[in-house]
Amino acid sequence: MKRKIHIVEVDAVEVLDSRGHPTVFAQVILSDGSRGGAMVPSGASTGQYEAHERRDGDADRYGGKGVREVVESIRRDVAPILVGMEASSQQAVDSRMCRLDGTDDKHRLGANAILAVSLAFARARARSAGKPLWQMVIDGGGHQLPCPMMNVLNGGAHADNNLDIQEFMIVPYGAADVCEAIRCGSEVYHALGRLLRSRGLSTAVGDEGGYAPSLDSDEQALELLMEAIKLAGYDTDTVAIALDVAAGEWLQPDGSYHLPKAALTLSREQLIEKWVSWAETWPLISIEDPLSDDDHTGWQQLTTALGNRLLLVGDDLFVTQEPRLTAGIQKGIANAVLIKPNQVGSVSETVATVRAAKAAGYVPIMSHRSGDTEDPAIADMAIALGAPLIKTGAPCRAERTAKYNRLLTIAHDLGENARFGGSLLQLEGQR
Ligand code: PGA
Ligand code: ZN
Repeated sequence: MKRKIHIVEVDAVEVLDSRGHPTVFAQVILSDGSRGGAMVPSGASTGQYEAHERRDGDADRYGGKGVREVVESIRRDVAPILVGMEASSQQAVDSRMCRLDGTDDKHRLGANAILAVSLAFARARARSAGKPLWQMVIDGGGHQLPCPMMNVLNGGAHADNNLDIQEFMIVPYGAADVCEAIRCGSEVYHALGRLLRSRGLSTAVGDEGGYAPSLDSDEQALELLMEAIKLAGYDTDTVAIALDVAAGEWLQPDGSYHLPKAALTLSREQLIEKWVSWAETWPLISIEDPLSDDDHTGWQQLTTALGNRLLLVGDDLFVTQEPRLTAGIQKGIANAVLIKPNQVGSVSETVATVRAAKAAGYVPIMSHRSGDTEDPAIADMAIALGAPLIKTGAPCRAERTAKYNRLLTIAHDLGENARFGGSLLQLEGQR
């Protein structure tokens, strides 16, 4: 009889993320000697309903951002309940940790602790089965590689420039495959760098690897993207534009929206009108958080106006949590959901949110965080969960290229079996 494999060790280390702030690395070892390790990312413009990211708060270490206590509680509290457990079910391991935590937002153990162990366990199981992670997150996995959404111009809370919109992305959805899409994105990114340089504008990069120059307006950023696409030899049949507005940052107590850098205040209706007119003017494929996560009436109006033309993506709106997504689906708001595993705090719950999205016809978009690490797990998860798009920054900075490089190597391994998520987006009604 085959001996059952179980967990023999759970350990953790305090390491650094791409901003140089501490984060959690966890390791899980199984009885057959298989090991899995994982690091978790950290957001800057976090949604108010995200699961809790636990930090030590000791001002003498890392300005209070240390995670030494978190790491200690993985060793002291989590390890004893997992060691000895059979290594057959992701759901069982995740539920065990959630029960130990016992809170709605994971504030006792921290979502950063639970997700690090959850992902490390997924990797250990994959090693034990002799499979890559993308075949393990859900049984079997798919063969669809996601289309990149590359954040090439930064503004909002992510940059000290005068752009109010947080992210201007290029989406090479019309490329033949993921390798050509990454090549196209990289070429447009470098063409944009040349354009900025030729105009004496800054080519310093922000947290996600995008340029962060000061421009006259958000519209000028869109004009520059159009020029860069052309300069690189592409057109809008191959490359579309996507925005992450992060409009929650603009909402005022009276329900209006204040764009701080343009010093402009708009009513909800005026903001919706702006997006409707932009959708007519620019080759937009998606707009993320175009309104605040508390403005469900505005979301309903915008979904009615634009929902059949482009992707309206809920990030802060849904925070990767199935109950919030299900409530949104019932209200008919948005038609796509950003998937950030650390907003919910475990692999199983991330899978559940993606399943709920797909069942309702909402497009799941796998995503990094602005503070990330060299861990490429989201590239594997995008494939495993069948997400047609992945948002993981510019093709620059190793914590961003780690994900693109992972996709390139998986594409190589899959060869002719690989399918490309971008081709799904050419369907009528998604643009
Ligand atoms: P964050 O930004 O990781 O700082 O939250 C990314 C986003 O808003 O999508
Ligand atoms: Zn966002």
